[in-house]
Formats: sequence, structure tokens, C-alpha cells
Amino acid sequence: MPLPYLDRVVVGCWQLAEGHGTNVEDGRAVLDAYAAAGFRVFDAADIYTGVETLLGDFVAAHGLAGEVRVHTKLVPDLAALSTLTADDVARAVDRSLARLRVDALDLVQFHWWDLAVPGYLAALDALVEQRRQGKVREIGLTNFDHARLAEILDHGVPVASLQAQASLLDRRTRGAFAELAAAHGVDLLAYGSVAGGLLSDAWLDRPAPAGTPENRSLVKYLLVVEELGGWDALQALLRELRAVADARGSDVATVASAWCLRQPGVRACIVGVRSRRHLTRHVELRDAQELSEAEVARLERARAAFPEVPGEVYALERDREGRHGRVMKYGLNEARP
Ligand SMILES: NC(=O)c1ccc[n+]([C@@H]2O[C@H](COP(=O)([O-])OP(=O)(O)OC[C@H]3O[C@@H](n4cnc5c(N)ncnc54)[C@H](OP(=O)(O)O)[C@@H]3O)[C@@H](O)[C@H]2O)c1
Repeated sequence: MPLPYLDRVVVGCWQLAEGHGTNVEDGRAVLDAYAAAGFRVFDAADIYTGVETLLGDFVAAHGLAGEVRVHTKLVPDLAALSTLTADDVARAVDRSLARLRVDALDLVQFHWWDLAVPGYLAALDALVEQRRQGKVREIGLTNFDHARLAEILDHGVPVASLQAQASLLDRRTRGAFAELAAAHGVDLLAYGSVAGGLLSDAWLDRPAPAGTPENRSLVKYLLVVEELGGWDALQALLRELRAVADARGSDVATVASAWCLRQPGVRACIVGVRSRRHLTRHVELRDAQELSEAEVARLERARAAFPEVPGEVYALERDREGRHGRVMKYGLNEARP
């Protein structure tokens, strides 16, 4: 049951949350500019501080209700998983409804930090009940692996979409995972297509960032680059992206996201925005001709020279003892009224 309507480019609003570096423009100005350029789908979450309220105010101010889709997420804190009830799920939905100032949430993407803690099927049953009551239009998942996606589908949850990391660096959604999603009409929504900006001209022929990276997105994706072998591997891919971009009169980031849009099962890329800086490039990505077979094959050949990110979708990130898991924040909901 795929999503009813979707742009190829979803505006990722995590970068407009508090605490996302120093270069964040006023969120309202950014949203106004993206709406004026015709973007109609925005990605949020209950744990992105201030973002649901920002989007709710923005949609109301422009009278865009019904025209704009907001995809939010329900992310229970790690500490709350073992005791999560249907009432907790209903309260989380009500809180998102109030912040977004709507009667029904377009899409709720459900996340579960620890798959060893039982309860995600019961929580999804509660979300299905919220849908039956008309408070949720579509149910999505985020960061579930192949086995759990199969289990959830077998359980009868009507999954419309699954949001996962996918990029030229991280190809863990390919293969059986994408096939399962496609077989059940589950749209894959890809985040990380430009790896926090690392897959852009800004880093071509440049040394690796020294010291603490400027924002959390970069922290995360620099760890992904290490899985490929490090900075030289990234530079090799950037050069190949640049060559494709030269031939198209485009740029590295646009080609990187366009590659992502050609991946099996991927219906849209969620590109993070924290300013209007890349707006014209995002318009180009949305409207331009997709990459040809030859362009995709060229990038595939370059990528094949380096190791894959190991494991299932989100397996590294779930390992709280590992370096990927250690940079996650597991309790962002508790602090939010
Ligand atoms: N489900 C999940 O667990 C999850 C996790 C992460 C993200 N997300 C979603 O996905 C969205 C994307 O987040 P992400 O962390 O994966 O970040 P991303 O989209 O890979 O990177 C965003 C950053 O890349 C740079 N950038 C974007 N477009 C560019 C372009 N055309 N040219 C050059 N640079 C460009 C910008 O950096 P500068 O501002 O520095 O220029 C921007 O802030 C989030 O907003 C959120 O909605 C979901």
C-alpha cells in the first residue's frame, strides 16, 4: 500500500531542530522558500525539537492544510520501550496532532531503539487503532531491518513506507530488503543521500575535517566513510560524481541524490535543509532528468572498489556499544512536554 502522493524530494527538517550546528537559518524563512519553490512534503519527528510546531505554524499561516504533507515520526525513548502502552502511543499521536495543528497525521513513521525489547508489534497495533480512529492517515516505519519488516507485514500492519539510510556510501537497503519492500508496496524513503554534505563539491579535493565536526549529521556520516576505508575512498567517489556532474552540467550532491533515486524501491530522497543555500539544487534534483543507465553503472563501478557498510539496515546504529551507536541520543522524548 504505497503512499498516495509524494515528491521525489522530501524536505528533511531535522536540521532545523535546536542543536544542529551554528549555520542554521531561521526555520520559517527556509520553509517559506521551499514552499514557494513548490516543495510539498516535509519530514519531521516528535524528537526533532521545535520542528513539528514550526511546521504546524507554517502550514496554518499559509493556509496550506491539505496541500502540504508532513511526515512525522513516533520515537519512544529507549528507557520507555519495556513499559510502553497503547495509551502512551495515543498520547504521542495527540501531541503531534496538537503541535502540527491538524486533525489527522499524514504519515507516522515508527521507530524502535532496541529490537531485543519486545513490544513493537503491540505499539504498532496501537498505531493501527489510531489510524482506525482517523487520527493517522498512513503508517510508516523507520530503521527496521529485513526480518522485522517481514514480521510486521505478517502481523498485518498496513505499512506504507520505510525510511532508511541509503546513499552511494551506504547500500544496505539493496537486495532482499528492497525486494521485500517492493513485493508489499512499501515505499523506501532514503535519508543520507548526500551524507550530511560530505557527498558534495564542498569536500572534493579537501582534507578531512579536523577536530569535532560542525554538526551531528557530519559526525554520523564520517563514521560511515570509515566503513569504506576512510577519506581516500570518499575522495575517489567524489571525483567520479564530479565527472558525471561535469557531463550533465550539474553538481556532486545533485548527482549523489539522483543516484539514490535510481536505487531499487526508493521512491524519494529526504534531503536535510538548514538554510536556503541549496534550494536551487534541490529544485534541479526534483525536476531534472533521472540518471541514465550508463551514469548509474559508472558510479556503481567506482563504488565497487570499496567495502560495503556491513550488516543489515541500521544494525551498526543499533549497537549501543559500537562507535555508530554511541553517537545516538536515545532519550529525546522524555524532556519534551
Ligand atoms: N529516520 C531516521 O533515523 C533519520 C535519521 C537522519 C535523518 N533523517 C531525516 O533525513 C533528513 C536528512 O538528514 P541527514 O542527516 O541524512 O542529512 P543529509 O540530507 O545527508 O545532509 C544534509 C546536509 O547536507 C548538505 N546539503 C544538502 N543538500 C546539498 C546540496 N544540494 N549541495 C551541497 N550540500 C548539500 C547541507 O549541509 P550545509 O547546511 O552544511 O550546507 C545539509 O544540511 C533529516 O532532516 C531527517 O528528516 C531521518
